[in-house]
Amino acid sequence: MKIGILISGRGSNMLAIVKAVQSGFISGSEVAAVISDKASAEGLIKAKERGIKTLAIAKNKRPREEHDAEIICELKKRNVELVCLAGYMRLLSPEFIRAFPNRILNIHPSLLPSFKGLDAQQQAIDYGVKVSGCTVHFVDEDLDHGAIIAQKTVEVLDKDTAGSLAARILEYEHALYTHAIKKIVEGEIEIRGRRVIAKQPNDG
Ligand code: GRF
Repeated sequence: MKIGILISGRGSNMLAIVKAVQSGFISGSEVAAVISDKASAEGLIKAKERGIKTLAIAKNKRPREEHDAEIICELKKRNVELVCLAGYMRLLSPEFIRAFPNRILNIHPSLLPSFKGLDAQQQAIDYGVKVSGCTVHFVDEDLDHGAIIAQKTVEVLDKDTAGSLAARILEYEHALYTHAIKKIVEGEIEIRGRRVIAKQPNDG
């Protein structure tokens, strides 16, 4: 399966996915492109070093639909079937979601549906929760809202700042994301309404 990854910055989740594909942990797949909306994204350099095709596609002053259309075109051109958002800081247009039905994933640094949107770790600290974590989910038209594929809990310590919590959650994000992608690529899960469950043996 050809995978496309969208980033805006550091790209540590992107790199974890690339490594999982290149090592064969995620079998029968290839990262066909890494696309960033920011030309300065550090992740672009990391992807290039791994021999991955990279593209910087800035939105500039265009409407979101036009920006998305260019990205969809680049993905389709490379026969991408699975799109992984990895620190991509834009909400996708309905057209983008429709172009890849149930084939767009995201990772978010909280236990959704708590603490959607920006600064999820700071939100967790401010609220005073004792447990947070990360979530891999399908992407739909609403922010951090699509069906949940996998979650991992991480304890919030008394001494935590948003930064220390973010760093500890990130340690789990890479494994959570790559394991979830492996299950999808290998056809091990199915979607029943909002529930994403292991494929039942008699479902064929
Ligand atoms: C991660 O915390 C991810 O959960 C969130 O954005 C951050 C991206 O980090 N969506 P990186 O670019 O993958 O290092």
